[in-house]
Amino acid sequence: MTTIQEGQVVIVGSGLIGCSWAMVFASGGYQVKLYDIVQEQVTKALEKIRKQMKELEEIGMLKGTLKAEQQLSLISGCTDLKAAVEGAMYIQECTPENLELKKKIFGQLDLLVGNNVILSSSTSCLLPTKLFTGLKHVKQCIVAHPVNPPYYVPLVELVPHPETDPCTLERTYALMKKIGQSPVKLTKEIDGFVLNRLQYAIISEAWRLAGDGIISPVDLDLVMSDGLGMRYAFMGPLETMHLNAEGLRNYCKRYREGIVRVLKSFGPIPDFAGATEDKIYAAMCKETPDDAEHLNARRQWRDNCLVHLAKLKKEIKSE
Ligand code: NAI
Repeated sequence: MTTIQEGQVVIVGSGLIGCSWAMVFASGGYQVKLYDIVQEQVTKALEKIRKQMKELEEIGMLKGTLKAEQQLSLISGCTDLKAAVEGAMYIQECTPENLELKKKIFGQLDLLVGNNVILSSSTSCLLPTKLFTGLKHVKQCIVAHPVNPPYYVPLVELVPHPETDPCTLERTYALMKKIGQSPVKLTKEIDGFVLNRLQYAIISEAWRLAGDGIISPVDLDLVMSDGLGMRYAFMGPLETMHLNAEGLRNYCKRYREGIVRVLKSFGPIPDFAGATEDKIYAAMCKETPDDAEHLNARRQWRDNCLVHLAKLKKEIKSE
């Protein structure tokens, strides 16, 4: 049963990811201040959140146990950073992926906050050492990288700066669990973090196979969505190894030679340009032309699929 929680969360930047985070924290019962530089943007964001929460409630997919109106009453907008962070226990920065802008914002926050608040960034690929080095409150800083859209895809990568206090990592981990997300801890920063390193490994081989004409781009995507992806929605590659033989050791014994042989046949890193780009672009546009209307319709379909998948996963977990 969700109850109203002590402590206030601040979201800095009310775009796509900021709105989603605001909804996730409110679903966990936290007071949320949604900060942005322009009032018009904040107003639009609050309207978008209201509409989405009402729709989710109607289809029975609202997170948490509080009603939509109760959750909405927890979220307020703000355009004054000093007022926004007053009394905050956790700040989630969600501004555009621009190092100089983010450094400026963390510099401003550093001057405003006390010694107990957590300063967290949603950055997809900027390393904590680039973002936080030199800040007075660096021990309280961490990257909490969500996956779009965080409301349906619960994974959050927690990436510490070398000077991040272990207590900051543990507190962020506990908070993420409390609001129903699925946090993972990296022991140290690495370019691309973990999710994008895995994603890029897949993209890379997909590009080579389609580029070499081994398979069509559309069939390549089917290998993932109707093949590997079926089980990856429930378990990772390492557990897959464990179950696909009589345990992991047996899997390695049986397959290590073949895996190494195949891996050695992988080509060089693609440049993601030229003739292969043209070919894959044409194939993708045949299915979904790249104008806003078609792309948005397909994104809507994707999010709808994610809603159903999230529901299914929840049902399976509670069995
Ligand atoms: P967005 O462009 O939708 O939103 C950015 C928001 O920041 C806008 O509302 C803008 O008005 C606001 N903003 C700009 N300057 C500001 C300032 N000085 N102070 C406060 N707010 C300011 O961007 P999006 O997609 O929400 O991305 C935000 C962050 O989340 C980025 O670091 C991105 O890499 C990360 N992220 C994005 C994902 C995605 O798929 N979109 C997935 C995971 C992380």
